[in-house]
Amino acid sequence: MGAVRADDTEVAIVGAGPAGLVLSHLLAARGIDCVVLEQRSREYVEGRVRAGVLEHPTVELLRNLGVAERLDREGLAHRGIQLAVDGVRHHIDFVELTGHSITVYGQREVVRDLIAARLTAGGEIVFEAADVMPAAIETNRPVVRFRCGDEARAVRCRIVAGCDGSHGQCAGLVEPRTVAEHAYPFAWLGVLAEAAPTQDELIYAFHERGFALYSMRSASITRLYLQVAPDEQLGAWPDDRIWNELATRLPTGDGFTLNTGPIIDRGITAMHSSVTSPMRHGNLLLAGDAAHIVPATGAKGMNLAIADVSVMADVIEQALRHGRTERLGEYSPTCLPRVWRTQQFSHRMTTMLHRFGDDPFQRELQRAELARITSSVAAATDLAEHYVGLPFARLPEVVHQ
Ligand code: FAD
Ligand code: PHB
Repeated sequence: MGAVRADDTEVAIVGAGPAGLVLSHLLAARGIDCVVLEQRSREYVEGRVRAGVLEHPTVELLRNLGVAERLDREGLAHRGIQLAVDGVRHHIDFVELTGHSITVYGQREVVRDLIAARLTAGGEIVFEAADVMPAAIETNRPVVRFRCGDEARAVRCRIVAGCDGSHGQCAGLVEPRTVAEHAYPFAWLGVLAEAAPTQDELIYAFHERGFALYSMRSASITRLYLQVAPDEQLGAWPDDRIWNELATRLPTGDGFTLNTGPIIDRGITAMHSSVTSPMRHGNLLLAGDAAHIVPATGAKGMNLAIADVSVMADVIEQALRHGRTERLGEYSPTCLPRVWRTQQFSHRMTTMLHRFGDDPFQRELQRAELARITSSVAAATDLAEHYVGLPFARLPEVVHQ
């Protein structure tokens, strides 16, 4: 192998998902130099269809970063959601209950906006970086080695941000670590369809045949999900079967119309929860799916990733600009309580809405929980507060004696 091309930066960010990209903007806003290393191509990263709901604090943060111009133009502000229980819809009005709305704007649009803004500002994102591997994270001079085509490269830095998602390498470098996990006995079949949404709210449907979710991306694109078996194969779901099942589980007898159209993307997503702790080892800090996974029922994955890096940017600023490296130790304890509250909310939404089996006792408990939420302002407010987004965690203030 030839000479290794080595560059210097302050923060090496592994992964150009929502966590890594938002962090790159937060650091740039603080005058901190960083490089983002992404194993996939720009086209691939910008094409992935994933989450679609932005919490209120996420939208505020993107606005503060100056990257919300298209989001404000094209994002769909929703004042609440609907819960359909055995075919009957109930409205949960977030604006009335919390004063805040949510915004439907696809993760890939968020990612496109963040990449474009970063590159326009002269930021560095290395796409198609292979074999990315951080080393010396316990020293104050970590290095991240990788390959670009045939060229061996290395970035020397002060801090490594592990934002490399649930299949990345960084979480494995936290030693010792605890991984708390939970698997759900079902998966989601998700489709994107060229079909105009017929209403401007999501529907979470509890149905005898299993959960269904009605969502959207724009005035012409619908996003739909069905609870399926955990080992379900896409081949078992021709278009007709998907539309028939959606029409059965969604509240089509309650005045709701389901538009159909060509399916332009489809996939099966496993449903599980995990939390890795601590979220830091030496000068490596983890954020987003690299540290925790939530089941999609709470629409929290992308939002939680962004909440983490809002804390991470402050910790890094303290360490690199104020010489307070001991504050790196506050990162994990500051993030984890909010991570667990979000995990608990996602678990609650998941267990309340899916079919777990044939146990009539469990089904009636689920109906009782849904009745509580749809009939009590206190219970609905609790759901609404979590759905629109808990305030971001903040580093504790330092009290000077
Ligand atoms: P990611 O978005 O996963 O970004 C990590 C990045 O790191 C990726 O670009 C990856 O290519 C890169 N990377 C990985 N390994 C390396 C490496 N070794 N070197 C360099 N780069 C690396 N949430 C919802 O709310 N609703 C949904 O419908 C939904 N659907 C989902 C479907 C799928 C298939 C997946 C995987 C997730 C889904 N999520 C959904 C969750 C949500 O999209 C994630 O929580 C969110 O993407 C987390 O952002 P992140 O930046 O932490 O991780
Ligand atoms: C989506 O639009 O993709 C979506 C919406 C709400 C969820 C999950 C996914 O809970």
